[in-house]
This record gives sequence, C-alpha cells and structure tokens, in this order.
Amino acid sequence: MKRLFFLFFLLFYSVAFTQQYKIYSPNKNIIVAFTLDRGIPSYSISRSDQSIIKNSKLGYILKENLNLRDSFRIKNTTINYYNELWTQVWGEQKDIRNNYEELNVDLEGSNNAQLKIIFRAFNDGVGFRYIIPEQKDLDSINVIDELTEFNLTKDYKSWFINAFLWNRYEYLYHSENASLLDTVQTPVTMESDNLCLSFHEAALYNYPSMTVGRVKGLNFKSVLYPWSDGILVKARKTLTSPWRTIQIADKPGDLITSYLILNLNEPNKLKDVSWIKPAKYVGIWWEMHLDKATWSSGPKHGATTENAKKYIDFASKYGFKGVLIEGWNEGWDNDWVKEGYKLNFTKPYPDFDIAEVTRYAKEKGVELIGHHETGRAIINYEAQMEDAFKFYKKYGVNVIKTGYVGHGQTVLRIDANGDSVFEWHHGQYMVEHYQRVVELAAKYHIMIDAHEPIKDTGIRRTWPNMMTREGARGQEYDAWDPNGGNPPEHTTILPFTRLLSGPMDFTPGIFKLIYPEYKPNNRVNTTLAKSLAHYVIIYSPLHMAADLPENYETNLKPFKFIQDVPTDWEKTEVLNAQIGDYLTIVRKDRNSTDWYLGSITDEEARTFEVTLTYLDEGKQYTAEIYTDGKDADWKTNPYSIEITQQIVKKSTILKINLAAGGGCAIRFREVAGYQD
Ligand code: NOJ
Repeated sequence: MKRLFFLFFLLFYSVAFTQQYKIYSPNKNIIVAFTLDRGIPSYSISRSDQSIIKNSKLGYILKENLNLRDSFRIKNTTINYYNELWTQVWGEQKDIRNNYEELNVDLEGSNNAQLKIIFRAFNDGVGFRYIIPEQKDLDSINVIDELTEFNLTKDYKSWFINAFLWNRYEYLYHSENASLLDTVQTPVTMESDNLCLSFHEAALYNYPSMTVGRVKGLNFKSVLYPWSDGILVKARKTLTSPWRTIQIADKPGDLITSYLILNLNEPNKLKDVSWIKPAKYVGIWWEMHLDKATWSSGPKHGATTENAKKYIDFASKYGFKGVLIEGWNEGWDNDWVKEGYKLNFTKPYPDFDIAEVTRYAKEKGVELIGHHETGRAIINYEAQMEDAFKFYKKYGVNVIKTGYVGHGQTVLRIDANGDSVFEWHHGQYMVEHYQRVVELAAKYHIMIDAHEPIKDTGIRRTWPNMMTREGARGQEYDAWDPNGGNPPEHTTILPFTRLLSGPMDFTPGIFKLIYPEYKPNNRVNTTLAKSLAHYVIIYSPLHMAADLPENYETNLKPFKFIQDVPTDWEKTEVLNAQIGDYLTIVRKDRNSTDWYLGSITDEEARTFEVTLTYLDEGKQYTAEIYTDGKDADWKTNPYSIEITQQIVKKSTILKINLAAGGGCAIRFREVAGYQD
C-alpha cells in the first residue's frame, strides 16, 4: 500500500511539476520537445517513432552570482513558423529553402535570473541556441560551463577527429562506436542502419568553439575551448550562443545536401557583392612544399619577380584568374613558425617587385592572390592588418590567403596585467580575431581564404567574402607527412565530416603523383582520374590547381578538366554515398547548362551504374569522361587514365569503373540545338 501511494505521489509530482512544449519539422517527422522538470530545463529529439536524443540538460554555470542551471519557471513561450527561399551569392547550391518551426522559451529563475532558449525544427535536423538577455546587476558574464547535453539512444558508428590536440584540425578521421569516444571536434558524424546524424554548430561569433565530450556511456556534453585563465566565454551584459546543430538524415548523401548550418546564419550583410568572385587559381606553393623552392630568401627563393611572371603567363594562357604567391614578404628567414612576430606584411623581399608583378598580371588579365602567414603571432598581425590590406589593395589584390601555423594552444596574448598568456586557436580570443579579419577584409572588398582557421559554421551566408578555408588535412600532407600522406579513404570521409561545415581549400590537382627527386618517401595516394574528381567532390569557391606548371603542360588532356570545371554551382545532387568508402556527386554549373560528375572510392575498386536523371528532358549532352584506365591502381599504376566522349541523355545508364584508390570526372556539355 505504501509503495502504491509512493508511486502515485511520484506520478502526481512529475505531472504537476513538469511542463513540456513541442515543435515539429515542416514534414512533421522530427519532433523537438522542451521540458522543464522541477525547474531544470532539458530537450529531447525524436524522428517518427524513433528517439534520437533523449532527455538532455540545458543551461549555464556562470562565475557571477546568477543561477542559470535550475530553479526556473517558464515565463513565456512562442511558436513561429518560417519558410523562405534565399539565394546564395555563390555556393554549391544557388537557391536554398529555409523552412522550420521555432520555439522560443523565456525562463525565469531565482532572483529573477533570465535565460532564453530558441529551438528550430527543420526537415533535415534541429538547431538551438541560448540568449542571456541584459538583466539587473549583470555587467560582465563569465561562463564556467555550458551544460548542453547530447544524450544518444544508440551506439552509432562515429566519424571524428579528437579535440584539444596541438595540430588543430589536421588529423586523419577515425571511426569508432560513440561509446568509445573521448572529446571530439565537430562536425562529428554518426551512422546506423537507417539514420545519420552530424553534430556541429552554426554562427560562431564572440564565443569559443564547441567540441563534444563523452561524459559516460552514450551521454555527451558540449565542451568549450577555454581562455588561458580557464573561463570559457566572456561577455558584457548579454550573451548569444552559436546554434548547436544536429543534422538528421536517412542516408549519408542527404547530409551533404542539407543546408541547415547555412540556414541558421543571418542573411548577407554586405550590400554590394559585385566584387566577390569564385575562381580557380595556381601559385608559387607546391614547389615550397616539395622543398624545390623556399619561402625564405636565398638562392632557392620561390617568390621572385621572374618566377611570379612564369606563373602569371601560365595562368593567363590556361584561363586561371588567380596566382597565389607565398613567401613574398620579409620575415620568413630563420624559424618563421617560432618567429611570426618578424613577419612584415607591407615589405616585399628585394627580389619580388610587387609593383612590376601586379602590373604584369593586370596586363595578362590575371590577379595576384595575396598571402598573410602570421605564424599565429596575432599581435604582430593585428598591428599591421589595416595597412597590410591597404597595401595589397593598392596593387589590385582582392583575395588574401591567411595562415596561422603553430601549436593549437600557443597564441600569445598580453592580458590586462601585462602578462604573456597563451590562447587556443579555437578559443574565443581567436574566434574574435578571425572575425575581425573577415570584417576588415569586407571593408576593403577583399575575399578571405583562411588556413589554420577556426572551423566553418556557415558565416559565409552573412559574410560572403569569407570564401573558403583549410581546417583539415589538405593535399600538402602528401608532400611532407612522415607517415606517407593522406590515405585513399581520406577524401571519402571529408565530405561527410569537415565538408559539412563548409567549403575547403584542399588545394587539389597534383598530377605528378610521385616525386622521388624531391620527396622520395612521399606521394599522392590517388590515381590521376581521382585527382580530377576531387574538383567536384570537394566544394570550394576558390579551387587551386596545385601542381607545378610543367606537370600540367606535359599533361594537357587531363588538365582540360581542371580548366573547365566551375567553382560556383546552381545545384548539387548526391548519386551514391557510403562514408569512408565511396561517393558520387553531380553539380550543375551556375553559369551554363553544363553538369559535372565526380566519383571517388577508397582502396577498393568499384563499379557503379548511374542513370543521368538530373539532365534535362529531351536534350542531348556530350559526356567528356576522364576515368581510371582498366589497369589503373593508386599504388601500382596511378597514371593510367582513359579520356573518352559519349553522347548521353536523361535516360542513359552510365557505367563508372573506379580503380582501387581511383575516381572518375565527367563534364556533360549540352549538344547545341538538339531537342527531342
Ligand atoms: C600551411 C598552409 O596550409 C599552406 O598552404 C601554406 O603554404 C603554409 N602554411 C605556409 O603559410
């Protein structure tokens, strides 16, 4: 009897003290439930009848005397519905549907503590964020912990890189069951038989980057990169967090065509965007990575006037808009990674005549891509930044590649006491720095390509001059990684992890895959055809043709594909996909009726049959096919390539043969004047 009474009491207690509000994705499949249970806020997510995130706590612990963890009551809730179609300035998809139901919850806690939480349910996932509004007696905000939990219901196979490591995001991805993870970077992607999830964040400003840490079992929580004094987030009076995002898809390919991260960013803030132009570029770059040339001055100096003109001639002849020049400025001598404070951004080396080089480039219809390697010496860079942008602008430079090479926790800052402290690349100090660069660049009409960046969180929607970034292991690892570079599966994982966050300057397109004269222990672990397919698979509005001009001049037939492939698309579709195994993507050019296909595989050879349903009805296309030769193999015969042409139409079933570690690239060109 006593027991029954107790159970009855419990039921009554939880009903009486639990409030729940739900929102639904527009197709009603995804349900987000916000619950306040005895003053403690939490959320859960389900899809159809399947629980995806079970009761997971929300809230903050502050250093200030303000309880944002429990003792809340619901002050107000509103539900809104939103549906718009917006157009990207440039991108992998021109028009994007932004359609969601939104729940705003205003919470009030002890001593009138105020916290707002906003949830959005989309067909392709969920986003939520916190706002600590201005309130009485709250001047400064110091976050000691963000309590957001992600409690999984299944032990998913997960694709991840670990967080808090010295080499930032530049690690190979691993796959393990979620129950074995430690603290991982986002995007972290998980899959089971009928479900794919990817955890990330959107609109990261004035806040540190979030990682996801396993607490126990399948319970995860947000773990933020701290300031050097241990505080996680510092703000004045009010704080808005980035969106915590969970992309939800039936199959891996649908993650690639989910634009949830972009949808959770604010619309474009730049009125005039006429100066923002996607492009392909070449540059004085790979030769330094091969040690054929040096960034520093001396007999092997790469950035000489003469060498720059050679690249300008090449770019002009083959239709590349940009020429990147690294190592042009003083400060690279000795150990620039340790001595970044010596880098000067307005003083070219004496053998690089920037006035002459830019004059020559202009004459040839080409533009220089500037380079600001900071060696993570931010104080030195910020002191020169405005002058440096003005300097480049004077010479007609409209794109700058920035760089922050150095250990992930060694960014020098001078604190309020005048002491030297060291910050993380991914902490709030640096997030704010990266953003200052984007905004100053916008002022000078400069596009940014950031290496050693903060991860992408979709800010390109708001700041479309933030073009592309690195933020993963790029092609350069094939030149100098002591463990032999990126394995064949690397680029079959990136599209489902790093690339979900946004474009990547992978610097693809190495044609001379083996280079014993420079680096006998390294090589590119692909076939030649796969090198071409990467231009479609990896999206970037600025894509490099990274190899030395002579390696293209001797291979003009496959090079034609790199010349042709666009960097701005109207549509993207995924034809087949398996994380870490293979992927086939088709994209339609934004400025013509052309379609392009890229297909890649890991170490395993594969054959696919694809129906060309994406092509226009009644039309014919010439398919220019660049595929692995019959005897191709990334290890033993990487150069074997077949280049053929075939007339195709919407109903054509095309057979694609991929060699081990191989790929296929196709351009579909509409046959003029043909109509069924
Ligand atoms: C690393 C960058 O990823 C690479 O592209 C650049 O060449 C070097 N840093 C030097 O800045």
